[in-house]
Amino acid sequence: MSERVVLAYSGGLDTSVGIGWLKEATGKEVVALAIDVGQGGEDMDAIRQRALDCGAVEAIVIDAKSEFADDYLMPALKANALYQKRYPLVSALSRPLIGKHLASVARKLGADSVAHGCTGKGNDQVRFEAAVAAIAPELKSIAPIRDLALTRDKAIEFAEKNNLPIAQNKKSPYSVDQNVWGRAVETGFLEDPWNAPIEDLYSYTQDPDVYREATEITISFESGIPVAIDGVRYSAIELVQKMNDLAGAHGVGRIDIVEDRLVGIKSREIYESPAGIALIAAHEELENLTLERDVNRFKRGIEARWADLVYEGLWFSGLKRSLDVFIDHTQEHVTGDVRMKMQGGRAVVTGRKSDESLYDFSLATYDTGDTFDQSLAKGFIELWALPSKIAARRDANRGKK
Ligand code: ARG
Repeated sequence: MSERVVLAYSGGLDTSVGIGWLKEATGKEVVALAIDVGQGGEDMDAIRQRALDCGAVEAIVIDAKSEFADDYLMPALKANALYQKRYPLVSALSRPLIGKHLASVARKLGADSVAHGCTGKGNDQVRFEAAVAAIAPELKSIAPIRDLALTRDKAIEFAEKNNLPIAQNKKSPYSVDQNVWGRAVETGFLEDPWNAPIEDLYSYTQDPDVYREATEITISFESGIPVAIDGVRYSAIELVQKMNDLAGAHGVGRIDIVEDRLVGIKSREIYESPAGIALIAAHEELENLTLERDVNRFKRGIEARWADLVYEGLWFSGLKRSLDVFIDHTQEHVTGDVRMKMQGGRAVVTGRKSDESLYDFSLATYDTGDTFDQSLAKGFIELWALPSKIAARRDANRGKK
């Protein structure tokens, strides 16, 4: 049996041509692996058939939508994960899952390498290969575009010459990656960061400038996981899909950002993540109600580190996994309801309640029923400010201002 390579297959031009290109350049048999992470669009069976038509010896489709929601999106939500405070890691979350499946299929089929359709300039190449390396360190990674000189023009030429069944005319002027957590759109006129985004870029969100009646919903969480909307229980994947519909209808979750890539380049990105942005806002507010002050504060720092690690392809690293343990532990009391109003591109929390709440009305109130002993504050402040006071006295004695 000749050597085999397992290719992460999307059904698009690059990876379709990649099948024949890999075979020509390496002599290996190509197994195509298509993973459904809720990217929508084409039917997965059509994608599978195309891989075979393009010369794959075998084409495998894995429906990983529930796995993606349970094992990748829910941890990201618990971490309130936003890279550079704004990007909910849409592509960054799918890559380790795809990498993991690439590695396990390669092992099962006795392949010696995996392949992906990334260029040498982006983050996704790092994420795929770092994931594969962490799971199956013996496998090699090949990127036809980066390593085997497969350019766009050559891909089109190759497809025509070999009569590959690729729908060329539908090609978008942008580079788009999408899954159930959102969409990432880059290149084209967006490469000038001064150019404003146009309505055409978006597909998960409606124009937030069009007036619509607000939608108000109640999201219920159990230990940091959203489990119900308006009392109706959903699995994680169903709930994310439902939130995409509800929040997307109000244009929630559009993001326009200049982002720091791992390879050092700054790039201009447009994202839309209606469910991601709305759920993170709701989850974070429930934490404000239920986490002790120091846990809450410390966690904000951990969240930023977690997002950086995931963005930079270190999903399976020791540090990321250790931070997961911390984050999971903080979620013990993050159970309760958040009421949220969505309108005009915004998802705003308007109410929160929990049996695990740390909010004490009798301590907080300025009205009758106040149980807070205000006289205690006087001595507390005396001690709290003591170090500053001592330092100020010293500076005054030494003639400093
Ligand atoms: N810049 C984003 C990230 O690194 C999105 C990448 C999306 N990939 C694509 N081929 N458009 O996560």
